[in-house]
Amino acid sequence: MGVVGAGTMGNGIAQVAARAGLRVVLRDVTEEFLQRGMAAIDKSLQRDVDKERLKEEEKRAIIGRIRTVTALEELKDADLVVEAVTEDVKVKTDVFRQLDQITRPEAILASNTSSISITKLGAATRRPEQVIGMHFMNPVPVMKLVEIIRGIATSDETYKVVHDLTLKLDKTPLECNDMPGFVSNRVLMPMINEAIFALYEGVGSAQAIDEVMKLGMNHPMGPLQLADFIGLDVCLAIMNVLYDGFNDSKYRPCPLLRKYVDAGWLGRKTGKGFYEY
Ligand SMILES: NC(=O)c1ccc[n+]([C@@H]2O[C@H](COP(=O)([O-])OP(=O)(O)OC[C@H]3O[C@@H](n4cnc5c(N)ncnc54)[C@H](O)[C@@H]3O)[C@@H](O)[C@H]2O)c1
Repeated sequence: MGVVGAGTMGNGIAQVAARAGLRVVLRDVTEEFLQRGMAAIDKSLQRDVDKERLKEEEKRAIIGRIRTVTALEELKDADLVVEAVTEDVKVKTDVFRQLDQITRPEAILASNTSSISITKLGAATRRPEQVIGMHFMNPVPVMKLVEIIRGIATSDETYKVVHDLTLKLDKTPLECNDMPGFVSNRVLMPMINEAIFALYEGVGSAQAIDEVMKLGMNHPMGPLQLADFIGLDVCLAIMNVLYDGFNDSKYRPCPLLRKYVDAGWLGRKTGKGFYEY
């Protein structure tokens, strides 16, 4: 399996694949990013060693199954490549165009995108029937779901291979079609956006809104806290994908969300969002 991008998601995907026994080639643009990715994998596996859920030699074997490379050409023998690079249409279509040229014609090309059209990524290749979305959740080693997104041309055969692979990774595949936001963000982001509207209109304080959803709806985390954890810039970008994708005002981002992003209050990663960190 090839993984392109060794960031938050890419290193998590490489880790779960190697843990399931697959040989992984992990690619990023610099040695430094690769080392950072491998350090994250080491730290995550060490936690399991410390809790006696994994033996030291198993950890070494898992890490030994991951080969890091900076040249994309090293992915030429992969049966399947998961792309997890920066969420940018141009960057991703370039990666898909290159992967299409480098990999064997029968290889499957999957994207971990949160919001970019799988159909569009497929159209950048000569094999759109072998292009599919594998939307892992963060943190990858912990979260069970992989949302599997079929582009307009994705074949049943490709879907079946990716479905079975997801089970092998000890995850649960759920199928959906390629529409803006897929299922996960289509349902989650408008809820978060509505919670921000409720705050903006003074319906309740941030604490009250979050506690209503936690205690009343059994959500493990309130929507405003979750937004802070995801990153308010990411939430705004996804609301814009829904708004532009459907041309429907029901997806308009709340002005307060825009204002926070303008202020650089992006949530946990900047120390301030709806809460202080
Ligand atoms: N972070 C999340 O919670 C989350 C959840 C689900 C899906 N996603 C999606 O996963 C993807 C990756 O997100 P992330 O949070 O891991 O980002 P990140 O910024 O942590 O990592 C992206 C990595 O891609 C690398 N990269 C950029 N261009 C590249 C190229 N051409 N070749 C190889 N590597 C390249 C960067 O150097 C970086 O290491 C995005 O599409 C994002 O929407 C993220």
